[in-house]
Amino acid sequence: MATVAALELPSGLAATGCIIGILLAGVFFFMVAPRSEDPKVVNKYRWDYFEAKARREFDIRAEELINIGVAKVSRLILSDKLADAAGMDDRLDQDKGIASVNLVHLKGLETKFAGEIHDSVPRPAASATSKRLVHLTRPFSDETENYLQKVWTDSIEWHELLLYPTVGRMTAQITGRAFVGPNLCRDPRWLEIIATYSVKRYAAVVAVQQFATFLHPLVHRILPACRKLRDQVQQARELLQPELDRIKNKKVVDEEFTSLAWIHEFAQGSVYDAGLAQLRLAAVANHTTTDMMCKIMIRLCQHPELIQPLREEAIWAVRDGRLRIAALQKMFLMESFMQESQRLDPFMLVSMFRYATETVDLPDGTTIPQGTLMAVANPSRLDPTIFPDPEKFDAYRFVKMRQDPERAHLAPFTKTSYTQLNFGHGKQACPGRFIAVNEIKIVLCHILLKYDMELVEEAPSELVRVGLLTVCNPGTKIRVRRREEEVDL
Ligand code: HEM
Repeated sequence: MATVAALELPSGLAATGCIIGILLAGVFFFMVAPRSEDPKVVNKYRWDYFEAKARREFDIRAEELINIGVAKVSRLILSDKLADAAGMDDRLDQDKGIASVNLVHLKGLETKFAGEIHDSVPRPAASATSKRLVHLTRPFSDETENYLQKVWTDSIEWHELLLYPTVGRMTAQITGRAFVGPNLCRDPRWLEIIATYSVKRYAAVVAVQQFATFLHPLVHRILPACRKLRDQVQQARELLQPELDRIKNKKVVDEEFTSLAWIHEFAQGSVYDAGLAQLRLAAVANHTTTDMMCKIMIRLCQHPELIQPLREEAIWAVRDGRLRIAALQKMFLMESFMQESQRLDPFMLVSMFRYATETVDLPDGTTIPQGTLMAVANPSRLDPTIFPDPEKFDAYRFVKMRQDPERAHLAPFTKTSYTQLNFGHGKQACPGRFIAVNEIKIVLCHILLKYDMELVEEAPSELVRVGLLTVCNPGTKIRVRRREEEVDL
């Protein structure tokens, strides 16, 4: 069997004050911290009984520690050279790993319904939504326009906005159009629920996990964090009900597609929780897209020399009509710019969380014992033989890659590979990536053509890098003012 290595990871990132960090840190700790056997831990120290040093060190130099582990041929964190094999192996299961961390099995934590459709439906619903992107491009553009006019306004005077919250609401409204339709996606009460659900859910899970497992079925009934979550889920159900009544006897047609209607049809009359299904979907779609969009907007402010070429590309792409999917597919510079931003600042340093349902032998001889929770690191994104001058931000990098016949197939942002694990890889790669990439392009077109934008220097704009996560600083502010767009989008 190959050498075994693992990391001591921090259990909480609350100190960063970063919502997404708080959300996910505990999950990552659970998933990749050493478990049943006694793996060789790369950051274990004598006298560090409470693992304080290990956790501090992980916060500061997680990527370095991961690389040390990978060099030793890690079992729990694999090298991305094994991403193809791991991604195609059905015995390495995504749902099983995530389910135990999220306590989705705990009936009553947030559901009063029988059945589990709401837990398993996000993937097929996201795939169904992706297939309707042709029909969703105009509605996404309409929602972007509506949001920007309402919140960024038509004022030609510079005015400031907190970046993360404004992008978060914009994302919720745009994606919401595909999920719940044109009425609810603009409802401030719905947007508030979508924006806060993941945080509330995580708070509830953490509260339950303070207790021994056998007490979970009891304590979740009385813990305030769980009660708050249940209240929120109930509110979501009530807001959804009129929409559900409207669509429930109709057939899903592409032009009026919503995931709400699609899930209703998919359930084929079985009992399910429509509110939870939507919240689960929004939870995977919203913070990921928001994070990516924020980082791209910060890069744009830091590289004002890119604004004109990007504007020109957008104007050129929509010259034969308005913003449609064919126009978005022509925006190679925009896509390259987005991908380069993610290559340098991925949301997390590891991806492809999986649970081994059986013992798996990988092609290089690594054995993953049954019951192991594993993930894949992505050092290749900084490999100079693949990405020359890898630390440098080069917005044109993937445009050039498209021109190289041998590597052109790797250039599209939605193409996952061992060099590009932002959306995971293999059979269980993110099914929403086509939606996210299109949505971000639409937003960028509107912003580039309709607004001047810059960072507010007095506010922090450095990304927060803690442990596995690189996230937008919640205090980052932008300043915007309306400009005259050259073409109608
Ligand atoms: C920039 C935005 C996004 C990023 C970076 C992202 C990233 C990821 C990653 C890394 C995975 C795990 C893949 C693997 O393990 O191989 C994943 C899974 C998934 N993503 Fe995305 N995603 C994004 C947007 C979306 C959107 C917009 C949707 C829905 C419309 C979505 C739906 C899903 C679903 C359903 C899964 C399966 C796992 C689950 O159900 O929890 N994602 N995503």
